Amino acid sequence: MDIAFINSKHVYGIPEHADTFALKDTGSGDPYRLYNLDVFEYELNNPMALYASIPFMISHSQHGSAGVFWHNAAETWVDVKHLPTTDVVSSITGFFSGGSRGSDPAQQVSTHWMSEAGIIDLFVMAGPQPMDVFRQYAIITGTTNLPPLFSLAYHQCRWNYNDQDDVLTVDQNFDKHDIPMDVMWLDIEHTDGKRYFTWDEHKFPDPVAMTNQLASKGRKLVTIVDPHIKRDPNYFFYKENRDLDHYIKTKDGQEFDGWCWPGSSSYLDMTNPSARKHYMETFSLDRYKGSTLDTFTWNDMNEPSVFNGPEVTMQKDCLHPGLGVEHREIHNANGMLFHASTYEGLLMRSNYQLRPFVLTRAAYAGSQRSTAIWTGDNTAEWGHLKISVPMILSLSVSGMTHVGADIGGFFGNPDGALLARWYQTAAYTPFMRTHSHLDTKRREPWLFDRHTLSVIRRAIRDRYRLLPLWYTLFWENERTGAPPMRPLWSEFPKDETTFGLEYEFMVGSRLLVAPVLDSDATTVSVYFPEGLWYDTHDNSVYQGPDTQTVPAPPEKIPVYQRGGSIVARKERVRRSSALMRDDPYTLIVALGTDGTAQGTLYIDDEHTMDYRKGKYLYILLSYSGSQLVGKVLEPSVPDSRYVTKSWLERVVIVGLNDQPSKITMVTKGGGQVSLEGSFSKGSGRTSSRLIIRKPDINIAQEFTISLH
Ligand code: GLC
Repeated sequence: MDIAFINSKHVYGIPEHADTFALKDTGSGDPYRLYNLDVFEYELNNPMALYASIPFMISHSQHGSAGVFWHNAAETWVDVKHLPTTDVVSSITGFFSGGSRGSDPAQQVSTHWMSEAGIIDLFVMAGPQPMDVFRQYAIITGTTNLPPLFSLAYHQCRWNYNDQDDVLTVDQNFDKHDIPMDVMWLDIEHTDGKRYFTWDEHKFPDPVAMTNQLASKGRKLVTIVDPHIKRDPNYFFYKENRDLDHYIKTKDGQEFDGWCWPGSSSYLDMTNPSARKHYMETFSLDRYKGSTLDTFTWNDMNEPSVFNGPEVTMQKDCLHPGLGVEHREIHNANGMLFHASTYEGLLMRSNYQLRPFVLTRAAYAGSQRSTAIWTGDNTAEWGHLKISVPMILSLSVSGMTHVGADIGGFFGNPDGALLARWYQTAAYTPFMRTHSHLDTKRREPWLFDRHTLSVIRRAIRDRYRLLPLWYTLFWENERTGAPPMRPLWSEFPKDETTFGLEYEFMVGSRLLVAPVLDSDATTVSVYFPEGLWYDTHDNSVYQGPDTQTVPAPPEKIPVYQRGGSIVARKERVRRSSALMRDDPYTLIVALGTDGTAQGTLYIDDEHTMDYRKGKYLYILLSYSGSQLVGKVLEPSVPDSRYVTKSWLERVVIVGLNDQPSKITMVTKGGGQVSLEGSFSKGSGRTSSRLIIRKPDINIAQEFTISLH
């Protein structure tokens, strides 16, 4: 089918590809391919298929945004052609002739979609703005459920942490070096011979004690559970599933036998409700021995990866008896069937009380409802760091909002400079995890020189300071589909310069991030859209629209708070996010050109499902007419609200013209008090800064702070 986006020059989406964010004209080369594959050492700037396939595309122009969702999970190819054209009819013929049409200024992007098999449902989302398309796509495929807060914090992974001592030593070293960390990960070697849901008892004699030790500092453990099941009749999980007839079959009706990490393996048919139920139940604490409620799950190789299969996956004519279809029809949804069941299993084990956390490699449209995703096996090279930004943006606008890339690169050994820049960048992406191949050198931050260590420490600590912002954005994402990490054009839809930006992005509507992605670079060219932009690390301010070359020495990533926004931060960084739960907030009020600012703050218990019953706080913060007001917007019924111990410790206002002579605060039910403030005057590129100390009220209390 041909789908033309009239009056548009830019289309985005159809991840996952290691390619540009704005989709390229496929010209005479290969179309973008959507076919979930385990690709060894993937190439950059290439439309070849990778681990995930989301057949969603969004176009954006000054006239607005529109989206299409091609709901088909078989192998799919998409051609993209940028055409000048005059009308729809010529555009369709134009697609095939590919001819240019003189100097006609009108534009369109013509796309051509081909799927091998199955049913096709086509959804068209009319926008008209980017946020409308995100919402419309979310109505069809769902949004990311609010993740537990720890999963937005920092994750430490490698293939492999060798044994219990290794895990606990790494855990202690984070404390020793004053670096916060929330999650330790265990890759395949922790199991008894790659039999998932088991442990290597020599290396991990007491996983519960180990996990409890992590949990005593508010930390969690993630263990890997892959979809290939070792064909060993003495392995409980293999045997049960064989007896229950849960496996995928060959075209001749034999149990499919594929080669993967454990050697000869069978693959669960997750289209079979009985297989799903049995798998989900295996996450219960009495069946998954050695797990606790602090153990979470990583689903890898779920494309599925089959080492001795065609293109390292399963033959298309294999049969899924559960649904009675050939594998070809549902290939791209195979991974989703798996991680969705993992999510359900984790919910079930806590009797639906606690939020699950799942990471997947393979995904399809709708995967966001149950999982975070990472971009698979990248390499420790600058090009891979650089492409991680468009790759993550592409997944993010396609619904997969909890997304990140392996920090440092999976294959190979990054030097300190690359690793430090990677940490800085990842600190502003939704999912922040380091990971590396079995054959790589150890790369915990303290194994590098002092400077590198201090840059990494700072990057991670900055992430923790901003967790209240990430958490608020993820709650808003669950409600509206708006991606926490988003392209500039979704915030500045009329600004054409933003449409082609590949390496700059926004965190919500409030931060602009321009990471350093080139080796040896100590400056970055940053495009600032209209308005004021305050450097988050020093007092400098920029006025857009403008492109500026800004300094970015090794210890600095250029990040700007948008004038007109308020960001809530937690400045007392501790060992883990859980230990910061009741800590106080600092509000950074960055005034816009009209002297006003606004922001939101979401708070709850950070890990249970109680927020669905109204146990949360959604606070609106606004500054105008020399007054800062804090007010709980939701829930409207105060009785059901979450009760927080966190208080307001500090307010920083940047961009004021004059020093106030007096600062007062009035709270609901309380009287008026005077507050202390210190003011530094701005000049030139430096903005003014007013620091108001210790308003000292509970953050849920309504307040008005007035400057006189
Ligand atoms: C795959 C994963 C990688 C993991 C490895 C071993 O290559 O992508 O992250 O470490 O398998 O489980």
